[in-house]
Amino acid sequence: MTPESHSPTGHPPTGADVPRPGPPPGCPAHGQGPGGLRRLHEADDLRKLYEELRAEHGPVAPALLHDDLPVWVVLGHAENLHMVRTPAQYCRDTRTWSPLREGLVRPDHPLMPHIAWQPICAHAEGDEHKRLRGAIDAAVATIDFRTLRRHINRSTQRVVNRFCEKGEADLVGQYAEHLPMAVMCQILGMPDEYDDRIVEAARDMIKGTETANASNAYIVEALGRLTARRRAEPVNDFASHLVTHPAGLTDEEVREHLRLVLIAAYETTANLLANVLRQVLIDPRFRAQLNGGQMTVPEAVEQLLWDEPPFSTTFGYFAKQETELGGRRIRKGDGLLFAPAPANVDPRVRPDPTADMQGNRSHLAFGGGPHECPGQDIGRAIAEVGVDALLMRLPDVELDIDEDELVYTESIASRHLVALPVRFTPRPQQDVTQRPSHQNEPPVRQDWHIGAARPQPTPSAAAASERRAEPAPPPGPVPPPQPAAEPARPRGAWQRFLLWWRGY
Ligand code: HEM
Repeated sequence: MTPESHSPTGHPPTGADVPRPGPPPGCPAHGQGPGGLRRLHEADDLRKLYEELRAEHGPVAPALLHDDLPVWVVLGHAENLHMVRTPAQYCRDTRTWSPLREGLVRPDHPLMPHIAWQPICAHAEGDEHKRLRGAIDAAVATIDFRTLRRHINRSTQRVVNRFCEKGEADLVGQYAEHLPMAVMCQILGMPDEYDDRIVEAARDMIKGTETANASNAYIVEALGRLTARRRAEPVNDFASHLVTHPAGLTDEEVREHLRLVLIAAYETTANLLANVLRQVLIDPRFRAQLNGGQMTVPEAVEQLLWDEPPFSTTFGYFAKQETELGGRRIRKGDGLLFAPAPANVDPRVRPDPTADMQGNRSHLAFGGGPHECPGQDIGRAIAEVGVDALLMRLPDVELDIDEDELVYTESIASRHLVALPVRFTPRPQQDVTQRPSHQNEPPVRQDWHIGAARPQPTPSAAAASERRAEPAPPPGPVPPPQPAAEPARPRGAWQRFLLWWRGY
């Protein structure tokens, strides 16, 4: 059976192909389309559906997207890997998808943001992919990860300073959705653009609300301004490296790739960070392993990349020729869902899906082959430092609702935690250049050599003790947070070196 035999592909649309209200939830026919094929977008629980499809069809299963458009869901780990690593047989050029070529996809199809072809590396193939991807890889290669971790640490300090005195927060809306944007704005070269508005715009775009177009325009304008500034005067940042790369990207290509990077990085990393924090909060064993040193934070992050890959699936890959995958006959122009979520729990690679993966990195959360995610180490660094820093700042943080009250939104592409309400002991703001700590006052560093003058409190420690001496503010609306002052630079070359080396 191929998806085409149950779809309009190859046939003019008939009355039976026109979508109509289906049977209500609860009815056995709910979620099924022509030929009994399962409609992915109607599933109440996609993880359960993937296991049903695996049991019924094996590692590659036929299914339906919105409007009953046919698709193959690639469930097997080996089959996903084979698909993404075989560019001679499969490509990411959406224009080759049969239903699109045959005019069967309406312009306002809900998956159009994934389907509409764009001149970006994610849709490009062969030499064109090498040209565009080469510029991205070169820009990523210029990132010094020690400096990056320092930026992430500072960003965590700023973001946590906004709520640490309140004793409660929503770690999705106030932390996980802010930190990746703060860091990515810094990496791209527009730290001043990071604010609540750009976070709101990115959220809005991804959720596809009515204002998504305006939000997209807001982000595109900011990236266009950045491109123009860097074209006029390149500096040492991601945007400048794209502008000056020998691939000769046009302004539009630079802007569109900055947008691709910003959105690809933002959504996935926010999702990953939220998932790891949630696991720490709901699973005492997980937290105890972290606290007790049996699990490192990078291992915790890797575990969540196995268990809940931020992109559950990606649409899609397209067959360039008649071929075979997982025992199925795949026709030229067929669409296939690259599906890390079911692949990561394929019983052939993970017989016990609850097993601790101990830092194993062979999950498919970052894809594979020529399109494998170029920013994976950036995503990992943001999630690792983000989890570590939050637990350092708020060591007694606890979930403020029952675990079963947590709400998720799910689409074919991803599953998102909506909010993560927590409570903790209110703590003062910290100097953004200091290492995140749960002590209110960073210890004064002692000079080690004999005869050194008595150490003076650092400006940040002095500021912290001044804050403690101030009378409590009257109750009332909380004033907008003021970032803690940056301290004077240490004078000695050795201290400056230590500051650079440690990153705080
Ligand atoms: C936890 C964080 C992240 C996850 C889970 C993730 C996941 C993915 C996945 C699954 C793909 C598609 C791979 C394929 O088609 O085979 C991808 C592509 C991509 N990602 Fe990421 N990503 C993350 C963070 C980032 C970051 C921080 C950047 C910033 C540089 C980034 C930039 C990109 C780009 C530019 C592509 C398109 C690459 C191409 O088509 O050649 N991602 N990512």
